[in-house]
Amino acid sequence: MSAPQLRPVHPPLALVRPQPDASAMLSALPIPCVLLDAQNRFVTANPAAEAFLTVSVSQLRHLALEDLVGPDSALFGLVAQARRDETVIIEHDVHFASPRLRRSGVTVQAVPVTDRETRADDEDASVLLTFQDESAARALDRHMSFRNAARSVAGMAEILAHEVKNLLSGIRGAAQLLENTVGEADRELAILIREEADRIRALVDRMGMFGQAPVPRDAVNIHRVLEHVRRLARSGFAEGLRFSESYDPSLPPVWGNRDQLVQVLLNLVKNASDSLHSAGTNEAEITLMTRYQHGLRLATPSSDSDSRVDLPLLVVVRDNGPGISDDIRPHLFEPFVSSRPSGQGLGLALVAKIVADHGGLIEVESRPGRTEFRLHLPMVSEEDSQ
Ligand SMILES: Nc1ncnc2c1ncn2[C@@H]1O[C@H](COP(=O)(O)OP(=O)(O)OP(=O)(O)O)[C@@H](O)[C@H]1O
Ligand SMILES: [Mg+2]
Repeated sequence: MSAPQLRPVHPPLALVRPQPDASAMLSALPIPCVLLDAQNRFVTANPAAEAFLTVSVSQLRHLALEDLVGPDSALFGLVAQARRDETVIIEHDVHFASPRLRRSGVTVQAVPVTDRETRADDEDASVLLTFQDESAARALDRHMSFRNAARSVAGMAEILAHEVKNLLSGIRGAAQLLENTVGEADRELAILIREEADRIRALVDRMGMFGQAPVPRDAVNIHRVLEHVRRLARSGFAEGLRFSESYDPSLPPVWGNRDQLVQVLLNLVKNASDSLHSAGTNEAEITLMTRYQHGLRLATPSSDSDSRVDLPLLVVVRDNGPGISDDIRPHLFEPFVSSRPSGQGLGLALVAKIVADHGGLIEVESRPGRTEFRLHLPMVSEEDSQ
């Protein structure tokens, strides 16, 4: 007897599922997208792009990029670099000031679309452009102004460090003398003066961290930094809180200063813990996460179109607390902004300063039940490692 033949009960899935139609997907996408050919002529665009550019697809097909944005637009550098480096290039805060297109604060992404089977040369690649007028651009803006806010504190920090500390040690010494000489009733007052002097000294020391002296940078394993911070937190201010980690084990080292990165993450975890404790959140949890963002490059508004920083390392500190209050939000990274009775309002100002010194970027997203600080950091380049 011959063995029974096995037949699939169902036809292969690909036969029964409707094939996704790429152009329908593109049309449905609410993000403005246009496709350029190798000569930067418009090939197609989705309805969101028609609305954004206020040009119909049929008109666009007779136009080249230059006709729309003018010959001097930063977009040409962006598109050329995406082709040359075969990677996604993002530019924030792009201004369009041509007769056909007037807009500012737009985030543009240029994505090379290479057909490997037919093209030998990637310089000929088509490029997909997306336009977004949204928070990423504003986040970068804020980031730049936070950097300035932090810088203005730096000068003040030096004055405080030099002048106030000397005066304080005099006050502290006098209070200590009094402690040993006055009667019991006044001793308490003398102790109070000494303790308050110590508190001011601690504040001044913290301000000193805003000093602008360049710190040595090295290849830093960010997972070790996160583990160190988690251990410090759990044995101190975050005792009893749950931590959850989601690390990308293949993450390359950060190009940075280990102690400063500890400081940054400690401040973020401390804030998360403060907000969870003060709100008495149920199932309070702090999540630490790392990811590699392939091909992500950011251009800072101050840089020219060809100098972009690679910020592929993403470190996230998230909590499920009540969220950042609305009145604090616009000034979050400015010094002396705090909603906590005992807060100095220096934690995030210092974070912004250190991240800026690292050439990185910090973004925040917060709503009740979920507050997320995202650090974008540079990795070690070949140049650095030499
Ligand atoms: N994870 C968070 N959830 C809710 N609010 C937050 C969070 N992180 C920061 N904040 C808000 O931002 C404010 C500023 O934070 P920042 O760390 O700069 O100062 P602080 O924590 O008040 O004082 P300190 O100088 O001791 O850190 C906080 O007072 C708080 O209102
Ligand atoms: Mg803080």
